[in-house]
Amino acid sequence: MTDRVTPDVSLEAFAKVNRSLRVLGTRADGYHELDTLFQTIDLSDRLTFEPADELSFSCDDGRLPTDDSNLVVKSARLLAREAGRSAAARIRLEKRIPFGAGLGGGSADAAAALVGLSTLWGLSLRPEELAPLAARVGSDVPFFLVGGTARGTGRGERIEPLPDAPAAALLLLLPPFPLATPEVFRALGAPSLTPSEAASNLRAPVSGELWGGNDLEEAAESLEPRLRGLREALSKVGAMSARLSGSGSTVFGVFADLSAADAAASRLDLPAEVGRRVVPTLSRAEFQRRAFPSG
Ligand code: C5P
Repeated sequence: MTDRVTPDVSLEAFAKVNRSLRVLGTRADGYHELDTLFQTIDLSDRLTFEPADELSFSCDDGRLPTDDSNLVVKSARLLAREAGRSAAARIRLEKRIPFGAGLGGGSADAAAALVGLSTLWGLSLRPEELAPLAARVGSDVPFFLVGGTARGTGRGERIEPLPDAPAAALLLLLPPFPLATPEVFRALGAPSLTPSEAASNLRAPVSGELWGGNDLEEAAESLEPRLRGLREALSKVGAMSARLSGSGSTVFGVFADLSAADAAASRLDLPAEVGRRVVPTLSRAEFQRRAFPSG
């Protein structure tokens, strides 16, 4: 029992797209060596953390597992173990970011869980201190402690924050089918890489490209040929660039501003089963103000 009331913590967990994604090859540990540019977008889940005697986790979307396989639960257990305390908290997730979509929803939730529980438990760990734990939860998770525009190398977990790229509006096309990241990487059949090859490939950075290619696109389209039509549909309505995000299944088109993206969305000729969503990109400062309101 504590004699003071700990206030609940409520956080927004923002999604990402990949501005570009290069796969340099397969590593000895089975992962792929990547060089990618992440970008935060204004689409978020909400997580609430309350004091409790034990760990419980619930989600308003019944399709999501809430057992130990969920990255939120993994994050809670890992942080508790590292802090030498019990993982006691009641965690609720309001899911808005589609899953299996390449938008990093599960990873964003995991990062928010590390930040939220660090606050709830009075650990006051800074994002830099949480980053090594985030990398153990998943390759993408460290980016969601930084936000804005950032380069990811290694498994994607080594994050270099970059100056914000110019703001843009994205038209997201959300197919009715998810894609599993390991399957997409497997379908790619990338050759294995020696550490020195990885280092030399990295000398040609992707950071000059505002919206570049995605090496996973062909593999994802081989698993789900319907994806190709979505990119074509975006190009037809005037997208400056039309790409798969991460390992999919989201395909997004880039527009100068929200009104251009809205107008394009209204001209799309696609089946109703394909969801559409117009979202602006978020700068790092906006991300940090909204994702970490007290920090
Ligand atoms: O690190 P994380 O658990 O998020 O990765 C999920 C899966 O995605 C891995 O098990 C692996 O199959 C694939 N992956 C990969 N190379 C990366 C990141 C992920 O092969 N750099």
